[in-house]
Amino acid sequence: VTLVTVLGGGQLGWMLGLAGLPLGVRFRFVDPSGEATARAVGELVVAPLDDADAARHAASGAAVVTYEWEGVPATTAEALVTAGHRVSPPVGALAVAQDRLAEKECLRRLGIPTARFTAVDDRAGLDAAVAHLGLPAVLKTRRGGYDGKGQRVLRDPADVDSAWAALGGVPLILEAFVAFRRELSIVAVRDRDGAVACWPVVENEHRDAILRVTRAPAPGTDHAIQAQAEACIRPLLDELDYVGVACVELFDTGDALLANEIAPRVHNSGHWSIEGAETSQFENHLRAVLGLPLGSTAARGPAAMVNWIGTHPDRAALLAVPGAHLHDYAKVARPGRKLGHVTVTAHDPATLDERLARVREIVSDCS
Ligand SMILES: Nc1ncnc2c1ncn2[C@@H]1O[C@H](COP(=O)(O)OP(=O)(O)O)[C@@H](O)[C@H]1O
Ligand SMILES: [Mg+2]
Repeated sequence: VTLVTVLGGGQLGWMLGLAGLPLGVRFRFVDPSGEATARAVGELVVAPLDDADAARHAASGAAVVTYEWEGVPATTAEALVTAGHRVSPPVGALAVAQDRLAEKECLRRLGIPTARFTAVDDRAGLDAAVAHLGLPAVLKTRRGGYDGKGQRVLRDPADVDSAWAALGGVPLILEAFVAFRRELSIVAVRDRDGAVACWPVVENEHRDAILRVTRAPAPGTDHAIQAQAEACIRPLLDELDYVGVACVELFDTGDALLANEIAPRVHNSGHWSIEGAETSQFENHLRAVLGLPLGSTAARGPAAMVNWIGTHPDRAALLAVPGAHLHDYAKVARPGRKLGHVTVTAHDPATLDERLARVREIVSDCS
């Protein structure tokens, strides 16, 4: 059998496992928690991810090592490469995506448009950055942020001190605030020979900086928007000699698409592809990292995904909605925690809208 070792054992690992089992792939996950969601679909090695020895041990016998969490220390991934393991996506991609400054600089070098940005290393640097970019602006920690954690919006000069008090002391980046019309993302897969396939561009709704709803394809998408979105990810994947699935989050200003951040892994805005596309992001990630032929990324029809966060919704009510597909990560409920998602599919956009409205209502009752 083909063994894949996955660094991280959360819901993304669980869905990789669910996609890989029918392909004859077996899994070993490394996660600091003995309760990690992915233990339902493979062997779980309980160890911190900065434990390179544990990772090396978990990688023995694996055809490839991949990761489902972008916080995996690059040193751990590097140690696996040094030990002779195939690691995909490449460590360089992990390193770039872990540092918001390196990420934005990489995008800029490739000619991919972003919000204006400046590095901030100290309090005086913050004043200079605010003077340079103007307000409003968004102050973010360069490393470690996710789901809106580690960032503050600066609306007027009085916010500068409190944002510095909250975030100062670690390297930061200040970005111009983008008054976007909507948020989009593009998920793509690149294989070992350099072939790239993109799923349809999707529209994302965030609340409190956490993804709530994805609509696929993004309503009103034409060839031009799809091509523009693909131009924000294809050069990046080539530059990083990427193998596997990645996502670029985008701001649609109405005039242009600006790249916001890179995820060097399967992404929440690609979950709809499990039921909504010919081949899911999870299956194609495995195909890519294992050197197997990629499957079609074409949509089967319109789809929408709704996350549930913090509390569990009424499962029976969701299942009563036609075209609803439930994904319960079987995690302990905690405020702000992603606990599951539901994807609704339909044959036509009008029916999808109606089903999505029902799902939103059921899920919002609980969050
Ligand atoms: N420069 C910006 N202008 C306007 N909104 C922003 C900006 N940066 C981030 N946001 C908002 O905050 C959300 C989370 O920020 P993001 O950079 O994607 O960090 P995270 O790693 O937490 O997802 C974005 O999806 C967007 O809604
Ligand atoms: Mg984001």
